Amino acid sequence: MQTVKRLDMLRNAVAALRQGGETLALVPTMGALHEGHLTLVREAARQADRVAVSIFVNPTQFGPGEDLDAYPRQLEADAALLEAEGVDLLWAPPVEAMYPDGFATSITVEGVSAGFCGADRPGHFDGVATVVCKLFHQVRPDVALFGEKDWQQLAVIRRMARDLDLTRPHVDSIVGVPTVREADGLAMSSRNRYLSPEQREAAGTLPRAMKEAIARIEDGQDVGRTLAALEDELLGAGFERVDYADLADAASLAKLNTLGQTPARLLVAARIGGTRLIDNMPVE
Ligand code: PAJ
Repeated sequence: MQTVKRLDMLRNAVAALRQGGETLALVPTMGALHEGHLTLVREAARQADRVAVSIFVNPTQFGPGEDLDAYPRQLEADAALLEAEGVDLLWAPPVEAMYPDGFATSITVEGVSAGFCGADRPGHFDGVATVVCKLFHQVRPDVALFGEKDWQQLAVIRRMARDLDLTRPHVDSIVGVPTVREADGLAMSSRNRYLSPEQREAAGTLPRAMKEAIARIEDGQDVGRTLAALEDELLGAGFERVDYADLADAASLAKLNTLGQTPARLLVAARIGGTRLIDNMPVE
């Protein structure tokens, strides 16, 4: 695996990987890699001849008072994990390479960015869209893989790819990978390591309570009352705040009060011990 930290070297490395007409997949990450990330990497290897992973803790997607400084950084350990997976290229630029002096451009994806995490974290999805667009232009992959764990992020990136006529990757070659979970159902996240053992145990309530709520909604029970009961259960289990717990159209993210003809999704963000956890699941 080649680790590259400069854009000119990245372009050479990508050209070398593609020399014989090989296809290239990109997995963008912020590092602190876990099985969720590695599952994306393995899927990437099934989708293309070569695999590139980026690790960049992107400052523009963190708001004031968020965990940018505390966010775990462990490039050497991450590189070893990626090497063991047979990754071809690790793109790990410093902040100055991504955001040169005077940087003044930002991509805003209206609509899908507005609610949920976009409402709780103003500017977050501008930062995500901008950095992902840059990564796409830098690496020009045939496919890019993202986790369904960040459902709204995936919707934002697909919308951007469609709206900006991105060709590499094309909107249809932006692949969503199902959420990888711990044994108790908690979605894997780099932020889970902030949790104390007690908080970690209580956090298992989140996926359990979501599954119960989904069973009730699928059973025809009232959506509003079911979501209120879900919030109560989380607060009772030790979460200090529920940022949102909503049923939404899976594609447009428009909020729903009842199940309709199109696929729906239950989306939740809740805080425990100051750590904000998000999760989402399909509702059929
Ligand atoms: P990060 O949180 O490091 O996640 C990188 C990718 O891994 C994202 O596509 C995310 O959805 C996926 N992922 C995280 N946990 C997962 C899990 N438990 N199961 C499946 N996939 C999971 O998301 C970001 O970084 C950034 O916003 C980024 C897209 C890199 C832009 O900076």
